[in-house]
Amino acid sequence: MTRTAVWLLGLLLGFFWVLPTVVTSTPSDLCKSVTTLKASLNFTNRRQYMKHNFPINYTIRVHYEEIFRVHNISKLKARVQGLETRDLQELWLLVNQEVLKKVLRVLPERHPSRKYTSDLEQLLRMVQQVFQQQQLQGPENEEREPPERIQDIWDRVRDPDMRAWKSVRPKALLDNCYRTMHCLFQDCFQSNEDFCSVLHWRRGNKKLPRQA
Ligand SMILES: *[C@@H]1O[C@H](CO)[C@@H](O)[C@H](O)[C@H]1NC(C)=O
Ligand SMILES: *[C@@H]1O[C@H](CO)[C@@H](O)[C@H](O)[C@H]1NC(C)=O
Ligand SMILES: *[C@@H]1O[C@H](CO)[C@@H](O)[C@H](O)[C@H]1NC(C)=O
Repeated sequence: MTRTAVWLLGLLLGFFWVLPTVVTSTPSDLCKSVTTLKASLNFTNRRQYMKHNFPINYTIRVHYEEIFRVHNISKLKARVQGLETRDLQELWLLVNQEVLKKVLRVLPERHPSRKYTSDLEQLLRMVQQVFQQQQLQGPENEEREPPERIQDIWDRVRDPDMRAWKSVRPKALLDNCYRTMHCLFQDCFQSNEDFCSVLHWRRGNKKLPRQA
C-alpha cells in the first residue's frame, strides 16, 4: 500500500471509531450539561436577573406543583415505593421547564432578563436531551413507567385547567431549581456536602458559602 492509502485507511477507521461516540452519551455528558446550567444559575445571576430586574416583591403565579423544593424530594423519597432518582430527575426537568415558561410569559420583549431566561431554557433543554439519550441506552431501560404518585404530579403540572395558583418570587423559583439540581444530580458535583439536606440550604448555615 502506498502511504496515501495507509493514511486514508487510517482516516476511515478513525471515522468509524469516532462515529458511535457521536450518537451515544455517557454520564459525564449529562454532568457537562448540568454543570453548564449550574454556572449560569450562579447566585449573582439569579439575584440580578430574577430579583433586581423586577419590581420589589414581584411575584409570578405558578401551580403548586411548580414549587419543587429539596423538601419535596425528601418527602417523595420517604413516601413513594419504587421511586428512582431518574423519576425525580425527569420531574425536575418538566417542572423547571414550566417554571421558565411562566417567567418568560411575564417578560416583555425587551426586558433585561429575557435573554438570560431563554438561555436558561435552552440549557435545560440540553440537559433533557442528554438525559433522554442516556435513558434509551441504559441496559435496564426499556420503557419505564414512573410510580403513580409521580405521574399524578406530572399530570397536574401539565393540566392547563388547573386553577390552584400560588404567587412566588421568580428568584425563589430559580433558587429551588438550583438547589434541587444539586440534590438530584449529586454525582456531578464532587463534594462531601449533602445537597439533599434541607439544613444544608438553610440560611445561616456557616459552612455554606453565602452565595449558594
Ligand atoms: C456568574 O456567571 C456569570 C456569567 O454567566 C459570570 O460573569 C459571573 O462572574 C459569575 N459569578 C460568579 C460569582 O461566579
Ligand atoms: C416586600 O416584602 C417585605 C416582606 O415580605 C415587606 O417587609 C416589604 O415592605 C415589601 N416591600 C414593598 C415595597 O412592598
Ligand atoms: C412541594 O410541596 C409543596 C408544599 O407541601 C406542594 O404544594 C407542592 O405541590 C410540592 N411539589 C411537588 C412537585 O410535589
